Amino acid sequence: MQKLKVNGPVKLSGEVAISRAKNAYLPILAAVLLTDKEVRLKNLPDLRDIRTMLKLLENLGVTISKDGDTTIFDASTLNSHEATYDLVKTMRASIFVLGPLLGRLNKAKVSLPGGCAIGTRPIDIHLSNLEKMGAKIDLNAGYVEANSETGLKGVKLPLTFPSVGATENLMMAAVYAEGTTVIENAAMEPEIDDLANFLNAMGAKISGIGTSKITIEGVKELCSTDYEAIGDRIEAATYVIAGLMTNSSIKVTNFNPEHLEFVLDKLKEMGAQLEIGKDFVQVSPSKLKGAKIETAPYPGFPTDVQAQMVALFTQVDGNSFVKENIFENRFMHVPELMRLGAQITQEGKAVFIEAPQQLKAAPVMCTDLRASAALVLAALCAEGETIIDRIYHLERGYENLTMKLQALGATIEKID
Ligand code: UD1
Repeated sequence: MQKLKVNGPVKLSGEVAISRAKNAYLPILAAVLLTDKEVRLKNLPDLRDIRTMLKLLENLGVTISKDGDTTIFDASTLNSHEATYDLVKTMRASIFVLGPLLGRLNKAKVSLPGGCAIGTRPIDIHLSNLEKMGAKIDLNAGYVEANSETGLKGVKLPLTFPSVGATENLMMAAVYAEGTTVIENAAMEPEIDDLANFLNAMGAKISGIGTSKITIEGVKELCSTDYEAIGDRIEAATYVIAGLMTNSSIKVTNFNPEHLEFVLDKLKEMGAQLEIGKDFVQVSPSKLKGAKIETAPYPGFPTDVQAQMVALFTQVDGNSFVKENIFENRFMHVPELMRLGAQITQEGKAVFIEAPQQLKAAPVMCTDLRASAALVLAALCAEGETIIDRIYHLERGYENLTMKLQALGATIEKID
């Protein structure tokens, strides 16, 4: 099993280009199932989650080929409606195929994703709303079996919580539904806008993009399209925080800083020297003070940047408070950061950090994707050689992390 060896403390410099967003491409890849026409997607990030989704599509019969930086999909060869446990268990996002399969084939059988390190993560909002659209749902031997013999019907779908995945699944299911579907209290994350823009590029009729009320008028068919997803705002935030934690000058490029407005505003409020361009953020050495953050659905503070902020808060001047409101168990990075000498007090869904703190290298272990990013950030500041184990978590979501950090001047390498 591979590990990361990081020598700190380091000073970073230069420029880092952000990859296309995994969380935008995962639902877009599932949406490929909706059409029998060719779809061409540019710059898919080379990540474990993306490779799992490609394997899932191939298992369903989709033909996939490559042309330079473009991946070409032909779902006219779709020959199965079943997403099996062996793939679904490795990636929760496999549940995204439920909506498109039901929309195109009127039937789908998808393994239940099961638990996850950061919480139980049920899919009740996906299922109850598909039922409202006329699907018959049975849970059988660990599988969701969904059928809609006469096709799905457009209805009003007021979500009990603005779930990102449920909004995306329902939007895809509604593309071919008869009549108009209105998703109320929809999630508003930029990746949802990206999925809607992709579906519209294929001929879907989706309006209200970027709002909490998304309207989908059913269509009869979709057409061929070329598409490139947005830059990964979470990866971008991670590098901005890396620049600040190491008191460095770095330029983070190739993403839309508007997608990170809440995070960048909070960092500026803490004293971060940030120049914000149309598609870049220039970070300069800054003296930071502590702050209070609470995670919330977009446009609030993203839960996917919470772990990295906890790492940052060990290096600021003053006290900080972090409350996690989205997931029930998302502080797995805290005991690992404490192994690096961080002093963090946890009370239920909140942590308190008194800083600045001197971090010291130690062997640590990745527990989930963003917790792993927090450990890398802390290791960049810790004195000595930190060994980070179980880096397969990182490889789910950070493309070329080692190479990107090496190019910025970090002393980091993969070891066996
Ligand atoms: C997506 C992101 C993930 C991010 C999360 C919140 C992808 C592939 N993943 O995950 O990186 O951390 O949004 O921004 O895009 N919930 C229910 N019932 C449901 C659905 C969700 O109770 O049917 C709960 C979940 O358990 C969780 C909360 O709602 O506590 C948020 O989940 P959701 O917004 O659905 O996140 P995901 O789509 O799983």
